[in-house]
Amino acid sequence: MKLRSTDQRLVCTLMLRSLALVLYGVLAARALNNGLAKTPTMGWLHWERFMCNLNCQEEPDSCISEQLFMQMAELMVSDGWKDVGYEYLCIDDCWMAPQRDSEDRLQADPQRFPGGIRHLANYVHSKGLKLGIYADVGNKTCAGFPGSFGHYDLDAQTFADWGVDLLKFDGCYCDSIKHLENGYKYMSLALNRTGRSIVYSCEWPFYLWPFHKPNYTTIRQYCNHWRNFVDVSDSWESIKSILDWTSFHQEKIVDVAGPGGWNDPDMLVIGNFGLSWDQQVTQMALWAIMAAPLLMSNDLRQISPQAKDLLQNKDVIAINQDPLGKQGYRLRKEDNIEVWERPLSNLAWAVAVRNLQEIGGPHFYTITIVSLGRGVACNPSCFITQLLPVKRELGFYEWTSSFKTQINPTGTVLLRLEATRMLQKN
Ligand code: GLA
Repeated sequence: MKLRSTDQRLVCTLMLRSLALVLYGVLAARALNNGLAKTPTMGWLHWERFMCNLNCQEEPDSCISEQLFMQMAELMVSDGWKDVGYEYLCIDDCWMAPQRDSEDRLQADPQRFPGGIRHLANYVHSKGLKLGIYADVGNKTCAGFPGSFGHYDLDAQTFADWGVDLLKFDGCYCDSIKHLENGYKYMSLALNRTGRSIVYSCEWPFYLWPFHKPNYTTIRQYCNHWRNFVDVSDSWESIKSILDWTSFHQEKIVDVAGPGGWNDPDMLVIGNFGLSWDQQVTQMALWAIMAAPLLMSNDLRQISPQAKDLLQNKDVIAINQDPLGKQGYRLRKEDNIEVWERPLSNLAWAVAVRNLQEIGGPHFYTITIVSLGRGVACNPSCFITQLLPVKRELGFYEWTSSFKTQINPTGTVLLRLEATRMLQKN
């Protein structure tokens, strides 16, 4: 049978795409070989919202204590967080006693964690969740508690004995780059040697950037995710600066991400005080495009129904967790609009259109379909669904068509494009 030229073009496109996927699979195989974080980690991390509050006398509900984590564990189950994928309940800095114990092991502060970490891990596991903990590659944690330098094997074993499932390893108080790099590598191997499955969350590249460009291929061989940039805070300036950093460095960081290893733009601050509704939508949409770990830092005891719905939006989570595991990138910036896109499995694409303007009203923007998804997302046509700020089926679009969207100041419209050739197949 003779193929028509459109069929030939389609066959060629599909063959090239399959080849690209095979090559990508080969390259992506170099991830840390612990079988974890095949999709970005989802969970809750205390730092941005609760910081280093040690004052349990006066602020029992917001100090860093066993009680705080037990309450969050309960809510993660009862309020549907676990059901949509938030699984890791993570302790950040300030859980430790100021000194190691008589056998040199790290120990939790006995007043604030009377049952100890093993007891907390058991509790968290009984809820079907996993427990994350925090330590530091240098001599002290960023808040001044005992660091792991000189104790990597012992600390890895201690965490494994306690039943810890994730380690966030910070990089404060390290006296040289050599110690920093060797320490991050050593701890990765030490965790593997324990035989327990422990997700390894690094800040290695962030601490390297002031000195030299990180080698992301190496970092990916040791870490399941890695922070590149400064700490997120509860403000629009902070979210914007993270997005700007990411798009500016995308040539270097996007291709290295994939199943087993992810760039970490830091916590979701949705549900707190500093972001407007549209800005929260922007954070959720872009963290999905960036294939970022979704670690919320908020108070699950007091969260608005709107923020909860956004964080639990299954369509957006599905983009974040897409099994193809390719990070998205900024496609273009023009006229105060940024267009980001991310390839998804089954030849689908996610597209985010951001309005950078912080003045005026909603901005109308016309997108030419052929400019999306490397020219093939909608070839010959696709079905477009708007997922954020509200879900709306926009219908079928031809390759050569365009459509108009409307985006609020500082907000984002998130779209999902399904290739009709795939829809017909299914
Ligand atoms: C550093 C990290 C933060 C947090 C604090 C804790 O600043 O980047 O994410 O862990 O330390 O002290």
